[in-house]
Amino acid sequence: MEEGGTAVMGSLQFGYNTGVINAPQNVTLDNLSNYGKSEFELGLDHCDTRFYNETWSSRFSEPIPPGTLTALWSLSVAIFSVGGMIGSFSISLFVNRFGRKNSMLMANVLVFIAATFMGLSQLAGSFEMLIIGRFIIGVYSGLSTGFVPMYIEEISPTSIRGALGTLHQLGVVVGILMAQIFGIEAIMGNATLWPLLLGFTILPAILQCALLPLCPESPRYLLMNCNEEIKAFLKKLRGTDNVGEDLQEMRNENQQMMREKKVTIIELFRSTIYRQPIFVAIMLQLSQQLSGINAVFYYSTRIFERAGVAQPVYATIGTGVVNTAFTVVSLFVVERVGRKPLHLTGLMGMAISAVLLTVDKFSWMSYISIAAIFSFVAFFEIGPGPIPWFIVAELFSQGPRPAAIAVAGFCNWSANFLVGMCFQYQLCGPYVFIIFTVLLLGFFTFTYFKVPETKGRTFDEIAAGFRMSQEPFCTQTQVETQTGYLETQRDEC
Ligand code: GLC
Repeated sequence: MEEGGTAVMGSLQFGYNTGVINAPQNVTLDNLSNYGKSEFELGLDHCDTRFYNETWSSRFSEPIPPGTLTALWSLSVAIFSVGGMIGSFSISLFVNRFGRKNSMLMANVLVFIAATFMGLSQLAGSFEMLIIGRFIIGVYSGLSTGFVPMYIEEISPTSIRGALGTLHQLGVVVGILMAQIFGIEAIMGNATLWPLLLGFTILPAILQCALLPLCPESPRYLLMNCNEEIKAFLKKLRGTDNVGEDLQEMRNENQQMMREKKVTIIELFRSTIYRQPIFVAIMLQLSQQLSGINAVFYYSTRIFERAGVAQPVYATIGTGVVNTAFTVVSLFVVERVGRKPLHLTGLMGMAISAVLLTVDKFSWMSYISIAAIFSFVAFFEIGPGPIPWFIVAELFSQGPRPAAIAVAGFCNWSANFLVGMCFQYQLCGPYVFIIFTVLLLGFFTFTYFKVPETKGRTFDEIAAGFRMSQEPFCTQTQVETQTGYLETQRDEC
């Protein structure tokens, strides 16, 4: 679907800018000064950080103190997630006022500013520009993690909503893979071309700006916020005249929303109706980040190096390839198998892989480490990678959806930040994965007991399911209204 492809340029930006700063470093064991540092810090000896050093020396006529260099570099890395937290939390300010499509379009202004700041920082001799650029692209990425899944879910027919929802994650993983490849020293990950590597992010933005005006606005947004006649619109979107069922479902959701009060973030937590789905949404986001996936993306080169792989950089790119391949697998099976079984399989597979990762004491185990990393990443993309991003839109009806996506996104980005900051590989080595194993098993248990299956159910049916679980003796029936629409009503309890 071209609309989905255009929207996921935003997801691609998120993945690219996640991966680009961790551009694989050519680390060698005999470089003892590097030993025990994270990959973030190994970047210090590479391209961007040489620039920090040179800038500092030219300003203050002395080499940069190592502590300051590490602090500046950590800031450049972490500020991306801080921007992400702010961006994801702000989505409800945009989507109801400007619409889904226009919000995505407008957000590209941030990419142009960020790319200019990052791309010209070396020329201007200012590492501050690089840090500001990383913050701005973080805000953009945070917005994208809300806008894109929301838009895709709202334009998709129910029967393929999960498959199309997975497109967001596919954009992310392709972005990471592109960053890993472009970050190879021979391509752009070197002292001269790194500004180009960072500024490259402008290209998908240009492409999206050219294509988005050709895409339709979310028909649910138009119906619910602008009250527009959308039949003609839906026909164009679906490419068929047969849109009666879709239209009926949207109108049902709309009627349901009319009965709901306007939902703010605070009300999400206060209302007994929304408390359960928002709790499920938050836990799913946490299951994605606290699975430890980004610990792997940050440290895989080091883990491969320990395992004696001659070219750890290429093995790291291998993780990017596995990552992409299994997202495609998930895309094809999610509508057949369902969200819940895939999420459970992914969490359990990751837990087993994480155990294997901690038992690499003997050299023959090295191969197990490599296999464990690949399977850890593969199981992640089967469920915990794509599903949390799109399931939030499914768990809520139109009224509370923007607020719920904002809260869920904020939790995801905060947990991402926490993992990046706290789980330093050099502190606990591979044993850090024991913590992730425990967390993964906890999330498995939670998912098993609390997460509902959303496959093949309309937004209205899912929301009604939550309402009824609050009042277990109620039943629902579909009744025809005076205007001829079908509407879900709860029977007397
Ligand atoms: C998900 C996560 C992101 C992670 C990526 C890896 O999109 O949100 O943090 O880097 O998957 O594929």
